[in-house]
Amino acid sequence: MTLEIRTAGPEEFLAVVTPIMHYFGRKPTPEFTERFAPILPPDRMHAAFDDGNVVGSGSVFPFETSVPGGFVRAAGVTLVGVLPTHRRRGILRGLMRAQIDDVHERGEPMAYLWASEDALYGRFGYGIASFSGNVEVPRERSAFYRDFEPAGTVRFLEREEAVEPFMEIQRRAAARHPGMFVRTREWWESRRLADPEWAREGGGEQVRALLELDGRPAAYALYRLHFSAERGIPNGFTNVIEAVGDSPEATRGIWRFLLDIDWMARVRAALLPRDHELFLLLREPRRLMFDQRDGLWVRLVDLEAALNARTYKPGEPVVVEVADEFCPWNEGVWELGPEGASRSTGEPELRLDVSALGSAYLGGFTFGELARAGRIEVLREGALDRADALFRSDRYPWCPEIF
Ligand SMILES: CC(C)(COP(=O)(O)OP(=O)(O)OC[C@H]1O[C@@H](n2cnc3c(N)ncnc32)[C@H](O)[C@@H]1OP(=O)(O)O)[C@@H](O)C(=O)NCCC(=O)NCCS
Repeated sequence: MTLEIRTAGPEEFLAVVTPIMHYFGRKPTPEFTERFAPILPPDRMHAAFDDGNVVGSGSVFPFETSVPGGFVRAAGVTLVGVLPTHRRRGILRGLMRAQIDDVHERGEPMAYLWASEDALYGRFGYGIASFSGNVEVPRERSAFYRDFEPAGTVRFLEREEAVEPFMEIQRRAAARHPGMFVRTREWWESRRLADPEWAREGGGEQVRALLELDGRPAAYALYRLHFSAERGIPNGFTNVIEAVGDSPEATRGIWRFLLDIDWMARVRAALLPRDHELFLLLREPRRLMFDQRDGLWVRLVDLEAALNARTYKPGEPVVVEVADEFCPWNEGVWELGPEGASRSTGEPELRLDVSALGSAYLGGFTFGELARAGRIEVLREGALDRADALFRSDRYPWCPEIF
């Protein structure tokens, strides 16, 4: 095997995504290029070639991602795959090496991803950074805990007219939700509002609904109806692809609209964060049947730049010793304080792997939780509380789509 790992050229686009598409049981078609070319620069696609043939690849979407108190340039890792003919020969490791070095050189402080399998990325310094989950609620058990008077108006939009208002709402929402990347126009057009037949899973066409409050765009929903009935009694469901409001009032409004769509027996939604408003809005939250699993995985590629891109709550500094086998430039002793992170000559009070910092970075896990699981070694009493006071985030991480 003569293996070469390098970035792709534009003409290699389809060949490069072949390995991951193999696992979806399909060959990439030109439609795939249409969907991905506007948002995935070829020089962000790394591929492994065996005798000139692509046998593995991994790519990166260049994102601007929300972190507590700000935004950071982030590498959204995607489309990772190695053909079964070449598995377990270190090709994923080689791709991750090339990719992370490239991300580092480009000055993107953080990388993050959704993992196909949760055992894969810890070895490369990624830490589990959030849980997210699915809900399915019978409509007749979906009342809010108290009467709700809907405000504003909801109307349906064609794809082209949805782009502007949805983009505006999502930008405002992203600022409040760590982990959410700001969607560009191209992303809306070629990804989120695309409605290919194969993605419908038996449901109807994608519906785009806009809630306006006082005449301005305040919330949107993307959903599809899966109609079915038995002996005339409906047993289909509304599948909420995504519902986002730019204020608590707007979020309540769009969800009441979705839960009240007639003729459907149930309402389903996926990838909701643990702190979603619905849990406290419903009179019977148990009926949501919330079913959660690991969501985002975060890798601090440039620890100092990443930690300085977010804000902290007031508090006392804490000195931590970080191990980072895959990116040794992050290793050493750091002081974390209300102003951010800097190298320190102080005595370490906590000892941890960079993956644990990735878990805490967006605010999804506390240092206390990580220490209780043995992922942080406590060298001085009180240090965990100080770290947690600094890193506390107002919202739980949320990314409403798998990229
Ligand atoms: C997962 C996948 C990319 C691994 O590629 P690979 O080239 O076989 O991986 P490597 O040989 O480089 O293995 C790197 C390390 O990961 C481990 N590993 C690889 N796949 C693993 C899996 N599915 N579960 C647990 N560990 C795994 C290897 O044992 C090796 O461990 P080491 O660091 O201790 O030596 C490949 O099996 C694949 O394409 N799977 C299907 C698609 C997929 O899941 N893609 C990921 C999308 S997020």
